[in-house]
Amino acid sequence: MTDPQKVLTERVQQALARAFGSEHADADPLIRPSQFADFQANVAMSLAKRLRRSPREVAEAIRAELSDFPGTVEVSGPGFLNITLDDGWIAAEAGEILADQRLGVGTSTPPQTVVIDYSAPNAAKEMHVGHLRTTIVGDSLARLHEHVGNTVIRQNHLGDWGTPFGMLIEHLLDIGEPAAIAQLEAGQGTEFYQAARAKFDSDEAFKARARARVGTLQSGDPDTLRLWHVFMDATVRYFNKVYDMLGVTLTDADIAGESMYNPMLQKTCDDLETSGTAQLSEGALCVFPPGFTGSDDRPLPLIIRKSDGGYGYATTDMAAVRYRVHDLKADRILYVVGSDQALHFRMVFAAARMAGWLPDTVSAEHVQIGMMLGKDGRRFKTRSGESVKLMDLLQSAVDKAATLIADRGYDAETQDEIARAVGMAAVKYADLSVSHDSEYVFDLDRMVAFTGNTGPYLQYAQARIRSIFRKGEIDPAAATGPIRLGAAPERALALQLLGFGSVVEQATELSEPHRLCAYLYATASAFTDFFEQCPVLKEGVDPDTRASRLALCALTLRVLETGLGLLGVPVPERM
Ligand code: ARG
Repeated sequence: MTDPQKVLTERVQQALARAFGSEHADADPLIRPSQFADFQANVAMSLAKRLRRSPREVAEAIRAELSDFPGTVEVSGPGFLNITLDDGWIAAEAGEILADQRLGVGTSTPPQTVVIDYSAPNAAKEMHVGHLRTTIVGDSLARLHEHVGNTVIRQNHLGDWGTPFGMLIEHLLDIGEPAAIAQLEAGQGTEFYQAARAKFDSDEAFKARARARVGTLQSGDPDTLRLWHVFMDATVRYFNKVYDMLGVTLTDADIAGESMYNPMLQKTCDDLETSGTAQLSEGALCVFPPGFTGSDDRPLPLIIRKSDGGYGYATTDMAAVRYRVHDLKADRILYVVGSDQALHFRMVFAAARMAGWLPDTVSAEHVQIGMMLGKDGRRFKTRSGESVKLMDLLQSAVDKAATLIADRGYDAETQDEIARAVGMAAVKYADLSVSHDSEYVFDLDRMVAFTGNTGPYLQYAQARIRSIFRKGEIDPAAATGPIRLGAAPERALALQLLGFGSVVEQATELSEPHRLCAYLYATASAFTDFFEQCPVLKEGVDPDTRASRLALCALTLRVLETGLGLLGVPVPERM
């Protein structure tokens, strides 16, 4: 265990138990970074009341029990404990992380099976910016869980079934398969949908055909299913272009769209009805999970089968929970989906618990994704008011990045590669660095900037460290120290590096990649201070100092590289 905050928590807890009895052994010592020392512990303030002693007295008593401590502890003000760690301890711990393949990141024991439902665009429409965040956040969570040793099962719950497919298939027949395929592969799903919709609304004969087609699709008519496949395959090819561009880890094998559950829906309804979990209400089959009421105070239904016999979004999600628990053997299910669906998921989870399909040993969590806003503070749209195509948006980030690096003298191929990496880092990091449930303003200029808490800044920080090793013709793997701490920025950087393991564990456990972003940004900033004040390769630096500083460079590089990798942000060799 190297995270100083964790080490201190444990030490202070032991001191608490010795000073005031074991009933205080798991009081939170409230360790926080401090501007007067490395950390401060505020526990004396909260404990004083309960012990009926002055906070200063309590603080003194804790300090007296911290004598074998690898640092100094001072009582200040009304009863703060100011804690400063020994340089030797920090250096030794940093050396251990340097020698550790995993950089201090633990593995989850026993490993869990984590099902992650993410991305999930709708095939009947174009993949839009709303799906950008669900894709990017979900992919980072998948990487994090794999890194801590969990088994991850990705589930791309595509919207690939339902009544719109009647009119989509008829429209496909009208324009011909080759034209339809070309249009869908080019990402013009919205235009395709709108054209079909327009005919549906204005042309009675088309409407009748579309309705009949829904019937033949539901009944599994082979010819209709083939046409559905033609439509879906072309659409998925477009989604894959977007995934490729983004560098997300989703593959065709992860597709588990709504259509997959179709054969299970009747049994889903029957079982819910037989077990008494669902009841008929005004002709519809509904579950009424306790605690959910509408504005009129009446119980809110989760509709499992509509009064016309049709299944809906909730039916599929009920089937999906059962499948994920029973067949995929999930210990934990994460739904990375827009926060506007919060009520839906709360009801689905509650209904699944009622039915016994979601046992208490399995956790189901809605990782709520906040809306992306335009600079006007409203839902992000194009100037003409339409929703923005993901591919266009990604391309605009790459183009912007290209203009920023245009004067750096790279050949065209390298320039393209870097522009792509920077553009994707900008977009992905912007999504990840704010807490996933908050809305945020899409501001390309800010996202692509090389300064501030941005993806490109972090990419640049790691590229700069690589260039130090290139210049010195040193292999980073050969920079093994030993680490010795002298100057203040060295010490601050080393202390910062000790926290990597626990921040990765926390980001994973809490589904909060933004914690990792904040940590990496602080690390890059600490490195910048170090680099400005502590020469590494300059002549006159004594060999021991040089070896220690190179080791700090190498460790920072690995932390940044690994951390960015867990976010899915590409790390270019040079920039
Ligand atoms: N396709 C849905 C949408 O775009 C998201 C599906 C999320 N997953 C789920 N199991 N409902 O809103």
